[in-house]
Amino acid sequence: MKICVIGGGYVGLTTGACLAYVGHKVGIVENNLEKLAVLRSGGLPIYEPGLEDIIRECRQQITFLDALEGEWIESDLIIIAVGTPAKDDGDADLTYLFSAVRDVIAKAEPNRFNTIAIKSTVPIGTNELLVQMFKDEIGKKNVSFVSTPEFLREGFALIDTLYPDRIVVGSRNDRDADLIKEAYLPILTRSFRRPHFVVGNFDKDLPQLIVTTPTSAEMVKYASNAFLALKVSYINEMAMLCDKVGADIEHVAFGVGTDSRIGRSFLRPGIGWGGSCFPKDTSALLKTGEKHGQKLQIVESAILVNNAVKEYFVSIIKDGLGGLQGKVIALLGLSFKPNTDDVRDSPALDIAKRLLDEGALVRATDPMAIKNAMKVLPASDRLRYCADAYEAVTGADAIVIATEWPEWKNLDYGAVSELVRGMFIFDGRNALDKKGLVELGYRYKGVGS
Ligand code: UGA
Repeated sequence: MKICVIGGGYVGLTTGACLAYVGHKVGIVENNLEKLAVLRSGGLPIYEPGLEDIIRECRQQITFLDALEGEWIESDLIIIAVGTPAKDDGDADLTYLFSAVRDVIAKAEPNRFNTIAIKSTVPIGTNELLVQMFKDEIGKKNVSFVSTPEFLREGFALIDTLYPDRIVVGSRNDRDADLIKEAYLPILTRSFRRPHFVVGNFDKDLPQLIVTTPTSAEMVKYASNAFLALKVSYINEMAMLCDKVGADIEHVAFGVGTDSRIGRSFLRPGIGWGGSCFPKDTSALLKTGEKHGQKLQIVESAILVNNAVKEYFVSIIKDGLGGLQGKVIALLGLSFKPNTDDVRDSPALDIAKRLLDEGALVRATDPMAIKNAMKVLPASDRLRYCADAYEAVTGADAIVIATEWPEWKNLDYGAVSELVRGMFIFDGRNALDKKGLVELGYRYKGVGS
């Protein structure tokens, strides 16, 4: 098939690259000329393991464009994957989406079917809104809208796209549903060569194709993310209680998660969830609830607990050190999770801010995210960014693990003990070997452990 993806951001690039890998001819439209130049030269404007390799491998199948033009206007399918950033009031800004749709419709040939699949994460009801907004053009230009939400995780984008649990399609007619099925057939039947640059679980069941209405498809996206967020908040709430009753959340989470009805994933305790999705999507879901007069108490609580656990963690550090004023803290990790340079709504940055507010001096480091972190939280006389962990820990009163990069596990903690001023480790991701560290003489405290 000939598929054109509008938007060369995270989702657009991954979707385009994977569809090309499984055999389609793909055009990717990116109107930011700087990013486009990087893509055309074989680089990537974002960091995602394996993405550069997959694009290189099927470079012949992919065309990077600055606009929807030429043969791409007559694509079998147009996928819109532009950004929908949150506005100040928490609502999604749909400016890019509307302008992309307007452009596609303006160029669409009326003598053929023009199916537009919305892959950007949009507020529930947006697909219906598009039908209202463009009701005159839809008939004249033979246009239809489908909703195809994405479920990929940053850091695992390729495995999640090529080996998904499900493909959800919200359509108003069988023709559109069949078209999406055709596009995803190699993924649904797993009839493509296993890519060597993808890591993850290849032995999963084949993905399910779920065909529903556009509004239900939009709802699946939000309800899934909110559920995952509340699972994490739930285990974090239990972690705080574990500290009070003298239990270990790591054992508790394992005990709970081995119940197959509950499952072990998303029960990793820590300083909470962040990133570009959970915070934005849970807030947007609350807004949708408000608009429709439906209180979403569980989602609301998940957000509250997510703030509470960070406050709690900083209070543990403060108590452990007998105050934070003037204390030097080595903060290891800045991205919202490992394997990404993304710091959007990163719990690590939240912790850094709280520590600074309490008067601490922070020495922060991260394998990937320093550049992005500096834009949000500029270096100052009390916040220094360090090239590596050994520099960060030198002279520190305590080490704080804020993101569970594997690098922190592999540090030589014997050598570290010679560099630090205080032997405290506060592990906000319960990522380190507690027993080994205690044997080395450290005072270790995790979240609920
Ligand atoms: C999330 C969803 O997992 C994807 O399915 C979805 O497609 C994506 O949002 C999106 O809407 O685009 P992502 O934000 O990349 O993906 O990251 P996750 O791996 O889900 O982690 C989110 C946050 O939860 C991170 O801060 C992570 O550290 C935290 N987390 C996750 C925990 O604290 N504990 C866990 O057990 C799992």
